[in-house]
Amino acid sequence: MHDRINIAIDGHSSCGKSTLAKKLAKELKYVYVDSGAMYRAVTLYCIQNGIINDAYAFNEDAVIESLSSINISFNYNKVAGDSDTYLNGIRVEDQIRELVVSRNVSAVSKIRKVRERLVHFQQKLGKNKGVVMDGRDIGTVVFPDAKLKIFMTADVDIRAQRRFEELSGKGHSITLEEIKENLISRDFQDSTRIENPLRKAEDAIELDNSYLTREQQLIQVKSWAVDRIAK
Ligand code: DC
Repeated sequence: MHDRINIAIDGHSSCGKSTLAKKLAKELKYVYVDSGAMYRAVTLYCIQNGIINDAYAFNEDAVIESLSSINISFNYNKVAGDSDTYLNGIRVEDQIRELVVSRNVSAVSKIRKVRERLVHFQQKLGKNKGVVMDGRDIGTVVFPDAKLKIFMTADVDIRAQRRFEELSGKGHSITLEEIKENLISRDFQDSTRIENPLRKAEDAIELDNSYLTREQQLIQVKSWAVDRIAK
């Protein structure tokens, strides 16, 4: 029996990190953790409690203060076959994907105290290995020793189109332009922030999936994982 490893998947917004990470975790019988969902849940809490009102300007101290009232957990959803995000015991899996959250989440995730809290939680989840986690700083900060690090990217128009199809399929009313604008803005904010910016770890393998099917991506990353697990 080989030792289990942690797998870090970072990259640009909406390039299919979570879809791939979930499938890979399932194949390996590992646990999938969506770190972006945690930043989204903090953002949602602040919106629900009037700390953020989609004006892009909010009091950072109030966000930090709210952290002590926020409990994030993941619970298995039998029907969907994966786990859902809960905020203080309430399922928020759909709400955290709304545009109002996407518009504010990069600003919230810039705050050092927010990052410290969530990184600590993420590291605890990975303590026993066997975790596939996706995000922006997993290979660089959360699991710098991860045995496999993948950095995903794809053409921005292709990403916007995929996201558009996904969200409109779920009934969200949103335009392709709004999505593209949000992707570009988040990538810029996430890569230029001072605290743990999005960057490719030196030992990460880059995966540009612009022209790869989901199946092709899974075959590729699974072979990398099997190789690293065997070492
Ligand atoms: O993965 P996602 O698009 O759901 O993440 C939402 C935002 O959360 C993303 O724009 C930046 C932030 N994030 C982060 O700063 N660090 C992470 N590890 C994951 C997400």
